[in-house]
Amino acid sequence: MKKGFFISFEGGEGTGKSTQVRLLANKLAERGNLVHVTREPGGTELSEKIRDILKTTSNIDSITEMLLLFAARREHFIKSICPLLEQNYIVLCDRFYDSSLVYQGILKNVPIAEIMQLKEMTLGNFEPDFTIILDIPSSVAKKRIQGRQLYWDDYDMMSENEYNIIRNGFKKIAEIFPFRCKLIDASGNERKVFSKVQKAVEKFMSEAER
Ligand code: TMP
Repeated sequence: MKKGFFISFEGGEGTGKSTQVRLLANKLAERGNLVHVTREPGGTELSEKIRDILKTTSNIDSITEMLLLFAARREHFIKSICPLLEQNYIVLCDRFYDSSLVYQGILKNVPIAEIMQLKEMTLGNFEPDFTIILDIPSSVAKKRIQGRQLYWDDYDMMSENEYNIIRNGFKKIAEIFPFRCKLIDASGNERKVFSKVQKAVEKFMSEAER
């Protein structure tokens, strides 16, 4: 039986997800919580191997890519996320299945119904308890991405138009799942953004614990 919390962070490249995950993990641990930080694709030995395959292979067919992502996700879910939640951990995950809805579904036109079938097969009715969606304009994202060690060229070299499709895709997710998603303007500095993240998470946790 699940006892902990699963909080996912979503958004396009350069929105600062990893930084905010780290800041939140430190704050929650300081307050005495058991905290585990993870990411997708990745999070277990096999899932990280799948991440490497995705990272180092070009021109993967969209359906093949989606199957690999969900294989990595299933392994991560069963071997790591579920056991940690049972042990009362707060699991902070840098991306989860909302990324598949946006990148594979909205950007690459894989039918959403097929993605949801795979989601059902691999995760059942599991949903994140809370999802922070970080939002910045593409001009700000481009500046932040420049100079970064790049991989997955087709994502990191994406055009402004593609970036906007992704950005609007995540905004749509926030509209579709308002009960679990909080859209946060992440264009300020990391401390400013973190104060919004912290406020949102504290509100979620106080309501969840009631
Ligand atoms: P990262 O930037 O968080 O390390 O993620 C690597 C890339 O993987 C990112 O460009 C988005 C992509 N991705 C998908 O296309 N679908 C997914 O389901 C996930 C989790 C990531």
